[in-house]
Amino acid sequence: MESTEPTAEPVLTPEPTEIFATGGGPAPARPERPKRPEKGEELELTIERLAHGGNGVARHEGFVVFVGGTVPGDRVKARLVTRKKGYGEARLLEVLEPSPDRIAPVAAHPGAAWQVMPYEMQLRIKHEQVEDALRRIGKLDDFVMEDIVPAVEQWGYRNKLEYSFGQDDANPTHPLVCGFHAPGSWETIIDGASKLGSERANEARQIVLDWCRGQGLPAYDRRTQTGVLRNLVVREARRTGQLQVRLVTSPIELDVLAIAALVEALGATSLIHTQYEGLGETTQAGTSTLLDGKDHITEELCGLNFRISADAFFQTNTEMAERLYGVAAEFADLKGWERVYDLYCGIGTIGLSLSTRAGEIWGLEIIEDAIADAIKNAKANGIDNAKFYAGDVRLALGELVELAGRPDLLLVDPPRAGLSQKVVRRIIEANPKRIVYVSCNPTTLAPNAAQLVEAGYVLKKVRPVDMFPQTPHIECVAVLERG
Ligand SMILES: C[S@@+](CC[C@H](N)C(=O)[O-])C[C@H]1O[C@@H](n2cnc3c(N)ncnc32)[C@H](O)[C@@H]1O
Repeated sequence: MESTEPTAEPVLTPEPTEIFATGGGPAPARPERPKRPEKGEELELTIERLAHGGNGVARHEGFVVFVGGTVPGDRVKARLVTRKKGYGEARLLEVLEPSPDRIAPVAAHPGAAWQVMPYEMQLRIKHEQVEDALRRIGKLDDFVMEDIVPAVEQWGYRNKLEYSFGQDDANPTHPLVCGFHAPGSWETIIDGASKLGSERANEARQIVLDWCRGQGLPAYDRRTQTGVLRNLVVREARRTGQLQVRLVTSPIELDVLAIAALVEALGATSLIHTQYEGLGETTQAGTSTLLDGKDHITEELCGLNFRISADAFFQTNTEMAERLYGVAAEFADLKGWERVYDLYCGIGTIGLSLSTRAGEIWGLEIIEDAIADAIKNAKANGIDNAKFYAGDVRLALGELVELAGRPDLLLVDPPRAGLSQKVVRRIIEANPKRIVYVSCNPTTLAPNAAQLVEAGYVLKKVRPVDMFPQTPHIECVAVLERG
């Protein structure tokens, strides 16, 4: 889930190893293994730096401990909640002495963990983390590390919010709540709107919440597997003003008359009901029914119109998506005749935005509805040199090469997990002259780029683009060329 994304497993980049003098004297004593604190223990820690994923890194008698919501230089009290062999994770209890860099948060928001740092500092750390990942994880050098592109809006930029429902029994008047998971908790939901979204999206949350309270619908309880309300997804096309609202529940028939009142109160372009009976918290499964309006919304981007189905991916920061695609276009450096592959293409946004500068575009994406959107998007924008196919890149890339011929430019924009080694091998076999890699996770870009470099590609340059202010999420674009 996007807005309540659990923090990624902390990535431990290797510390510089100590070099012992050799020759002559006795062998140096082995450094003692740090004593591990007990789970549940309260620790006083000084935050040294931020790890990939955004958590603070501290040491307790040499044992590495990650603490979320902290700033380098903070002296904090934290409770150890996870203890692994090489590191632990602790929950922040109190800031004992704030770092000189710490600033007051704008809003209580579990999805905006980095709001306690000035924006300039967020940008600097993101830039450093991209470079660090490539140099230390990927062991790459000789590339140009370009300046980060700052975001246009520091708050209110998200065009999609995924809220969770919960039950706050300490509040007898309104026990049903709708908001975000408290950090590290799958049970506790902090009621409230998101300052990362627009007023309109937050109004929609309030309208749906009031309606659900009026209907007497309870939140779904994952422990007992009872109750109804799971999630609320609000997606906005910022430039056309269209709004899609999707209510995710366990299987239930909603009252038709009551829905009419909700439709009127919301004034949304699209109202969808998704029923899902699985245990896990997801908004991407289940069966959807259109309650009112269209099954999609339409947005303008890069001078084109895009239809976006409920299941399809669309970059969550509209303004910065245009900047991101601009960087991809610049790095692609197309002359007009090239065959371009757009892998992980979603609704075709990147490929279609490049279509006038290329000979042909071939898009591949796993979500069938997204591919249906991409095909319609090409047609609606009068683009006739783009073809889109539904398939898993891992299995379908070889077939695409047989069908389309080898690409001149291959563009990839995978999810946070990056590319598997097998997909990288398929890309190397496809033998494009240039690869533009749009990455939302530098710690997976790094090993992918390293594998490509090992196969003879040269990492030319990397430019981070800040799509997600107040959060540790990092986007960047890299370009590699066949050596
Ligand atoms: C980060 S999004 C990028 C989408 C698009 N390039 C854009 O900018 O809107 C990643 C996309 O990869 C798709 N995807 C995930 N796994 C895939 C796979 N194995 N094969 C093909 N597409 C996949 C997702 O559905 C999603 O649309």
